[in-house]
Amino acid sequence: MSPEDPFPKKPLKKPWGGRFSDAADPRAESFGASVGFDSRLYRQDITASVAHARMLAETGILRPGECERIVAGLEEIRAEIEQGRFAWREELEDVHMNIEAGLAERIGALAGKLHTARSRNDQVATDLRLYLREETRRIEELLRRLMAAVAERAGDEADTLMPGMTHLQAAQPVTCGHHLMAWYEMLARDRGRLLDCLARLDVLPLGAAALAGTGFPIDRQRCAELLGFRQVARNSMDAVSDRDFCVEFAAACSLLMAHLSRFSEEIVLWMSPPFGFVELPERYCTGSSIMPQKKNPDLPELVRGKTGRVYGHLVALLTLIKAQPLAYNRDNQEDKEPVFDIVDTVRDCLRVYADLVPALRFRRERMREAAAAGYPEATELADYLVGKGMPFRAAHAAAGRAVREAMAQGKTLAGMGLAGLRQFSEHIAEDLFPRLDLERIVTSRDHIGGTAPARVREAARRARAFLAAAAEEANGAAADAPGDTDKGAPKSAAE
Ligand code: ARG
Repeated sequence: MSPEDPFPKKPLKKPWGGRFSDAADPRAESFGASVGFDSRLYRQDITASVAHARMLAETGILRPGECERIVAGLEEIRAEIEQGRFAWREELEDVHMNIEAGLAERIGALAGKLHTARSRNDQVATDLRLYLREETRRIEELLRRLMAAVAERAGDEADTLMPGMTHLQAAQPVTCGHHLMAWYEMLARDRGRLLDCLARLDVLPLGAAALAGTGFPIDRQRCAELLGFRQVARNSMDAVSDRDFCVEFAAACSLLMAHLSRFSEEIVLWMSPPFGFVELPERYCTGSSIMPQKKNPDLPELVRGKTGRVYGHLVALLTLIKAQPLAYNRDNQEDKEPVFDIVDTVRDCLRVYADLVPALRFRRERMREAAAAGYPEATELADYLVGKGMPFRAAHAAAGRAVREAMAQGKTLAGMGLAGLRQFSEHIAEDLFPRLDLERIVTSRDHIGGTAPARVREAARRARAFLAAAAEEANGAAADAPGDTDKGAPKSAAE
């Protein structure tokens, strides 16, 4: 071993071991190690190192030929990791030092030059941004798949009557398509929030080094170009310590999960026999080990349950950054597991829903029946009386009295007949009866955002056109984005 080799085989010396004479305490070493989870960042770490090495060569910081050997060594490591042949070592702490040590094993002391003008602090911040950029794009794509499925179903159910509810009680009739397009709107806002995150993610920390930048003549713009970042971080101290981007991502995902949990709750209710609005194919349900009749909606329940862990991670990340002095602190190593788990959870839940929504079978007759129960046409009677010149409050009171009497007699409002209803207002005439028809009620809500079937069909059509344009745009952006590290890469053994 040459004296300058930082990674002699035995005993293992840390890359930072120069000022240390004692070996690390094994418990402390294991407590501090992150390679058990951050090995997941290997692709991003290697991609960022390759860009850094190229920049070092172009600026003359590396000698001619050195960069090629470094890059070849890194590519070899990438392949080994992907084939599951790379030996990760806990004593090397994290993904960065494992890969650097692996490089030293391949190309010797030259490996030590890769860390010129760089620190693990700007390295890990860069890796994590690269990772989240990819994953946010993937999540956004899955979200679009779900939005498309919802819009499709909304179009199919544009004429299906169901009870619109407030306080979980029949309020006014709506169309099922309108209800589903409300889900779509929630998802569309979630997508907007993810795209906002992406815009602020698109900043390169590399070059900040430990915290204060470097005296080497680096070219950060060139690095940004090689990695496909739109901007270079403007302040080196902020660049290594900022984890707002993780919090923002967690917050956007928390709201997305909040929405998925609301959909889940509705599906669970709609599937329950007292509602009976929807059926889920058996392949998405489970039975009970004791009650033979059960067909349980476990998938929506699990999605509803998983919402909690995403909220938990949001709070963990917020608490992680709270009161940290500038610049980098090791606390930040705790950012990764929450972020990884959010990515996995949200991805799984979106996949489940993108498959489940097309498989829902709406029971139209049941929904229509339920739409007629609970006097949802009462507002229409009040509106009718307003049309005859009554103040709304008086009309509301008269309609309320009519409902009370109808309930006592076990009749619908229309079933009370003209004579029966006229006792509540002499304005009531034959022309009221067509207006109490549920189809007519929904069809009359024919304004922007209304529940009329024509409006719902139009909203679903617009949504599909919007999504087709968004897909095209995303495909175009993916085709000319440099720096993405997952183009056709096989699934990592570390994932
Ligand atoms: N594993 C570390 C992390 O995730 C990498 C950065 C270590 N930097 C340091 N100064 N110890 O944050």
